[in-house]
Amino acid sequence: MISPQKFIEEAVENIRSNLSGRGILACSGGQDSSLLAVLANMAVGDRVLSVFVDTGLIREGEKERVEAFFREHRINYRIIDASRLFLDRLRGVTDPEQKRKVIGKTFIDVLEGAAREFGADTLLQGTIAPDWIESGGSVRDTIKSHHNVGGLPEKMNLRLLEPLRDLYKDEVRSMSRHLGLPHQVQPFPGPGLAVRVIGEVTEERLSILRKATQIVEREVESRLPEGQRPWQYFAVLLPVRTTGVKGDRRTYGYTVAVRMVDSIDAMTGTFSRVEWDLLASIAREITNSIPEVNRVVYDITDKPPATIEWE
Ligand code: XMP
Repeated sequence: MISPQKFIEEAVENIRSNLSGRGILACSGGQDSSLLAVLANMAVGDRVLSVFVDTGLIREGEKERVEAFFREHRINYRIIDASRLFLDRLRGVTDPEQKRKVIGKTFIDVLEGAAREFGADTLLQGTIAPDWIESGGSVRDTIKSHHNVGGLPEKMNLRLLEPLRDLYKDEVRSMSRHLGLPHQVQPFPGPGLAVRVIGEVTEERLSILRKATQIVEREVESRLPEGQRPWQYFAVLLPVRTTGVKGDRRTYGYTVAVRMVDSIDAMTGTFSRVEWDLLASIAREITNSIPEVNRVVYDITDKPPATIEWE
């Protein structure tokens, strides 16, 4: 693995020499784009604008967390609330690839507007190796169209700069640690909660999933110390309803699937063999505090054959 210090120096130099005007970058608050935002700030300061787009597909407290990160690192930033636009365009869309396309396109539209206003001619992207490999960069068939790859700049008339392109997840973690960025942030997909609401994405379903996600994260993080947590741990809302009983009444509610995966680089993974008590407590909390949900299941599939996300 390349030494973090050397990589950081090279990345800063790369950004400096390739960015003569202004640049824009979309920062989701995840490990990759946060690292990029810090490197870009080190390289050219306020000539780069870091944008956080509230897609309405984000987790509870996410926007506030990212804003605090921007402030702490004195990053030139802007937060754009585009949740209405995303939800409107996702209405009636159920196909996973179509969902990703709609989200990707909407994301471009929002970012393009911000780039125009800022006068940016370059887009900095936090693309890392697994993103382009799985998006068809070196394999024949596209597995999933990750929205942070796939021709964004051509459509946007911006030059593309991808300083993290050769890194794998574990390397990103090591660079972030070196720079004192928050570590142990679990990866979160670009299209957000939309790929965890199976079927149509509606405000009601997002709200259920947001609560379930918060419970899974809280239970894992309160019971397992850092370093012993799975690589990813999250909830998925299924479009099926099944019969249950709460108190002495029949219910007909939603099912939440809990997914926890151990992995090194997200290319492969195994389902986490966590304690039954943790799973029991998650199931209890979800069914007790979310009236619409009466069943919780645990995903015991490895990657491959499944992917980590359900869509
Ligand atoms: P899959 O589901 O393909 O996910 O096994 C591998 C890793 O990538 C994350 N993921 C994404 N990240 N944009 C991203 O930036 C996306 O569209 C996307 N889809 C999946 C996923 O959470 C896992 O860590």
